Amino acid sequence: MPREQGGICAEGNLHGLYLMFNASEGAEATLPRVLAGLASWLQTSADRNADSAFNGFIAIGANYWDTLYPQGRPAELAPFPQFEQEDRIAPSQPVDLFIHLRSDRLDINHVAAMEVCRRLTGLAELVEEVRSFRYLDSRDLTGFVDGTENPTGAHRRQVALVGSEDPAFTGGSYVHTQRYVHNMGLWERQSLKTQEDTIGRTKVDNVEYKREDKPPFAHIKRVNLKDSDGNSMELLRQSMPYGNMQEQGLFFIACCATPRNFTAQLESMVMGEGEHFDHLLKYTQAVSGAAFFAPSIDFLEQAAGL
Ligand code: HEM
Repeated sequence: MPREQGGICAEGNLHGLYLMFNASEGAEATLPRVLAGLASWLQTSADRNADSAFNGFIAIGANYWDTLYPQGRPAELAPFPQFEQEDRIAPSQPVDLFIHLRSDRLDINHVAAMEVCRRLTGLAELVEEVRSFRYLDSRDLTGFVDGTENPTGAHRRQVALVGSEDPAFTGGSYVHTQRYVHNMGLWERQSLKTQEDTIGRTKVDNVEYKREDKPPFAHIKRVNLKDSDGNSMELLRQSMPYGNMQEQGLFFIACCATPRNFTAQLESMVMGEGEHFDHLLKYTQAVSGAAFFAPSIDFLEQAAGL
């Protein structure tokens, strides 16, 4: 199995730092080598900074892939699936590169980000930077624990990584990001019951509602989907809260062996079923959305001729 980038399946951390870049014209001649070097540097840094659980990955935007790697494209790589219904909008804002850095130390992330920017100088322009943090016991800023039903152990890799079905891209991962801005004032004015019905779990103790008690508009009802063979459509969510006193919310990140699961879940949230859409969307709004592929380290090295 080709070596995957360590950050894709990494366990949660205290701090995240996300860098979005657009590549300069003509950078594709040099970038494959620089990205392969960067991926290997991220791995070495992870070993060197094991005490702060540093990890990272590089993902290439769906709209930039063919320019950067014209020799072949992951079978299912597609632009971000944009959905819109009434005032619920999941916008698409493509970018060329997403660098995902995480550790348990702010300074280690900062140093890594400086190194990333140094290596990309003249090749790509930084268009967005977001710093995220663990909130309480891994809660979203709504106060609900986020990540409970994430796959665990070896199952994380099964869910997140492309297998033998696409041999050139085995060990890679389809990545979707969305920056959500929460309307905290409106959320905090809701009763505990309304909040819990919106998620489909209890708030303090994080207990899942019984099947018969879950409203059709509850978040976990809308995203808990099965494919036509009856298999659960799972994601590895690597989301974390971010923000300041002017704007705050969730930086949603999904890693998966296929983009189909995210697309189906987002459609179910926004478009809903009959009149039942995801009521979480009454209190939060996605302001960006992008689709990427995070290839294996072996792919990055081969594509760079290393
Ligand atoms: C502001 C945005 C969001 C917030 C605050 C949020 C929060 C939560 C919370 C609190 C849970 C329950 C605990 C858990 O199992 O993790 C959950 C579950 C989940 N969410 Fe979200 N979520 C958001 C967006 C999304 C999006 C965009 C998707 C996919 C398109 C998604 C997919 C899932 C899945 C698959 C689960 C597990 C459901 C289950 O199996 O029970 N979430 N989310």
